[in-house]
Amino acid sequence: MAYKILVLKGDGIGPEVVGEALQVLKTVARQSALELEYKEALAGGASLDAHGTPLHDDVLKAAMDSDAILLGAVGGPKWDNPAAEKRPEQALLALRKNLGLYANLRPVKALKELIAASPLRPEIISGVDLVVVRELTSGIYFGTPSERRVGGAGREAVDTLYYSEAEITRVVKFGFELARQRRKRLASVDKANILASSRLWREIAVEMAAQYKDVAFENVLVDSMAMHLIRRPRDFDVIVTENMFGDILTDEASMLAGSMGLLPSASLGDEINGAGYPIGLYEPIHGSAPDIAGQDKANPLAAILSAAMLLEHSLGMRAEADNIRAAVEAVVREGYRTPDLAAPSAKMVGCKAMGRLVRERLESAEAEG
Ligand code: IPM
Ligand code: MG
Repeated sequence: MAYKILVLKGDGIGPEVVGEALQVLKTVARQSALELEYKEALAGGASLDAHGTPLHDDVLKAAMDSDAILLGAVGGPKWDNPAAEKRPEQALLALRKNLGLYANLRPVKALKELIAASPLRPEIISGVDLVVVRELTSGIYFGTPSERRVGGAGREAVDTLYYSEAEITRVVKFGFELARQRRKRLASVDKANILASSRLWREIAVEMAAQYKDVAFENVLVDSMAMHLIRRPRDFDVIVTENMFGDILTDEASMLAGSMGLLPSASLGDEINGAGYPIGLYEPIHGSAPDIAGQDKANPLAAILSAAMLLEHSLGMRAEADNIRAAVEAVVREGYRTPDLAAPSAKMVGCKAMGRLVRERLESAEAEG
């Protein structure tokens, strides 16, 4: 049976990095006699230009009908008008919400060879291996009202941070289950000293901790966590948090790995695909980087590692995913670097060459296999 992969390259460097990730996926598929059927569609600014909407209904339908979705990045200065009603980013939000992808996994691992690329000191970041589970379909991103209006005192605006018990429960549970498969530590991040939604979050997390006595559990305030991530990042294993805290903390955490160009993500829900695994949306955590788009300078590793997560989480192919990760590590170990990771002694390569190197390592591993 062929599995259906929807490919949404998006804007900026999206097409370049996803192009390389796709070729890596094709290499692995050939190696493991896996049948994948690809469908490409527009999303974000590219879709706004072509169809006047960031995500066409047909594309949303195709996404719901896929086994997994591989996405590049959306957005760019061309569509940045703050007064515009339609924005590229809405494509992402619509996919997340409509597919019920409430758990966003963002693993952060400091590769030995890249420690020098981080602005942080080596003794702080060596050995970092954590995963942030970010709630992705609720919170202030989706609460209503969210609007601008004119009130008695002039212009005003409001956003709403809403969470229901069910929304908190399912994602915190996801965090506990993931911690069980790892080093059995879970930190739940909130702002319970100020926000009612955080006090509910904390209450539910503490109740659930009683059912996971084997997991070392702690509550951490989000401002403290921002500090701990820089001061003692090795102490964390799984971190679970609400939508916007997770957005902010994962950009911060990406610096622990050296570059945003290295970090993949998976967004999962409860919907099961034809392979018997969750339908997932896989994308690098970096943006569309319009300043370097089309110049063969982008780092495709985050997109390639997102394809590895796709194989693992949506197709149950852990070994094949690990092969991709090993190939990426080998290329990095050999000293190849895209400009975002530049070091004086590095062998500088572009996006295409980096992708080709990863495929070559996969092929030589197969030949040795
Ligand atoms: C992310 C991004 C998105 C978000 C934007 C592009 C909507 O920053 O995936 O972290 O805020 O969720
Ligand atoms: Mg973000």
